[in-house]
Amino acid sequence: MSESTDSQYLVVSNREPYRHDWEGDDITVDRPNGGLTSGLDGAMRRLGGTWIAWGDGDADREVVDDENRVQVPPDADEDQYTLERVWLSEEEQENYYLGFSNRVLWPICHAALTKVESERRHWEAYREVNRRFADTVAERVDEESVVWLQDYHFGLAPSMIRERTEHDPAIAHFWHIPWPGPDTFRACPHGEEILRGLLGNDLLGFHVDRYCENFLRCVDELIPMATVDLDAGVVHQPDGRLTVRSFPLGVEADRIQEQSTGAASHARFREFADEHGIDADGMLALGVDRLDYTKGIPERLQALERLFEEQPDLRESFTYVQIGSESRSEIPAYEAVQAEVAEAVERINDRFGTDDWRPVVYETGYVSNETLYALYRAADAALVSPIRDGMNLVAQEYVAAQAEDPGALVLSEQAGIHDRVGDDVLSVTPQNTDEFASAIREALAMSDKERERRMTSLRREIQRNDLESWTETMLDEIAVVDASRHGR
Ligand code: G6P
Repeated sequence: MSESTDSQYLVVSNREPYRHDWEGDDITVDRPNGGLTSGLDGAMRRLGGTWIAWGDGDADREVVDDENRVQVPPDADEDQYTLERVWLSEEEQENYYLGFSNRVLWPICHAALTKVESERRHWEAYREVNRRFADTVAERVDEESVVWLQDYHFGLAPSMIRERTEHDPAIAHFWHIPWPGPDTFRACPHGEEILRGLLGNDLLGFHVDRYCENFLRCVDELIPMATVDLDAGVVHQPDGRLTVRSFPLGVEADRIQEQSTGAASHARFREFADEHGIDADGMLALGVDRLDYTKGIPERLQALERLFEEQPDLRESFTYVQIGSESRSEIPAYEAVQAEVAEAVERINDRFGTDDWRPVVYETGYVSNETLYALYRAADAALVSPIRDGMNLVAQEYVAAQAEDPGALVLSEQAGIHDRVGDDVLSVTPQNTDEFASAIREALAMSDKERERRMTSLRREIQRNDLESWTETMLDEIAVVDASRHGR
């Protein structure tokens, strides 16, 4: 077991790392399987502490003690930590999660202003749920605690935590989506309250420097009490000081590399190709996305359509596979993009498909990590084309999965990761259909030597800044900020 106490590290996120669900009369545990929750789970198992999250599983309530707590992972032989659930009513889920978080903050931060829908009940629920999480944290903290909040669901919680405790914990926050410039942020309903909420942190992290600057400029323009030092990345306030820094989020590069190479991965790809009527020896491009209007999927399909129009020799020899997971479908803008993608796929397949070949294979069902990594490994190109994206982990996972005979990466300039790898990818503006179609053509025609050269450099970058290094760097910086506050 770890030596730290339950109150030392307190991670707060909307999604829980383990969910319990009924399967007949049995309770199953869904473990984190890749991505951020898996990375943070690793860190928490090592450090110990408490992870506070919305209890979303249908059997979550069956496994907790009187204080809503359960030890995870379930196997007591492993290092464990405490998972504490916060329960949300359906109305709160509707108004806090589907409402203010995803109808206001998500589109504002992605500069999709026409998608913003703001209602008073959304804001009230967001405030109430932030209060509830802040209460839960405040009950657990002591002088030595480090509170680490994740993402845009908790814009108010940092200041609320400060108000609710006599102790002086270190509070850090990582904002996983972009932060827009002041012109855009001014359109945010209750934007000043969100800024004041975030000023309760000691440390605020974003993926890239641009978002840090945007945030600092918003504070400078909208919060008169705060003094912003843009060069130092610091906000001075009468009762504290906030450091704003970039921490580029990475992926579990070694694990992905391990799982995507080898005979099993190759066999898994052949199985997928068989099931979906794909010629496993033909050329293949891949897209993997949550079905979100920020991901640029309709734009990508338009570029593919242009390519099939202009280059008939690609017909029957090249297939595009789109893996799409449904997300936030209760929100009309999400429902609309799902319908738009399905229609575009059908149109392209009707226009160009033959008896033996479908140009676009669209899979919206469950795809295991094993299959996903096998597809990454097999694809000659990955098409990652968000209209705007905080970082984008799919591009990084694709790179991590490449070994000998690698593929090429076509990447939107609007993904945060582009700031780090722009020289070695085929850069596109997703709305520029002709340019995008040419980039796909170039990716498919690229010489082995050129792919190898680019991928070697990409892989080095992705391995150096992987998920573990993100976690460590952020924890180190929290310790530095904490020490300077306490004059240690
Ligand atoms: C983005 C957000 C995460 C969120 C994820 C999935 O990456 O930054 O906080 O968990 O999308 O979305 P969902 O709404 O299903 O949690």
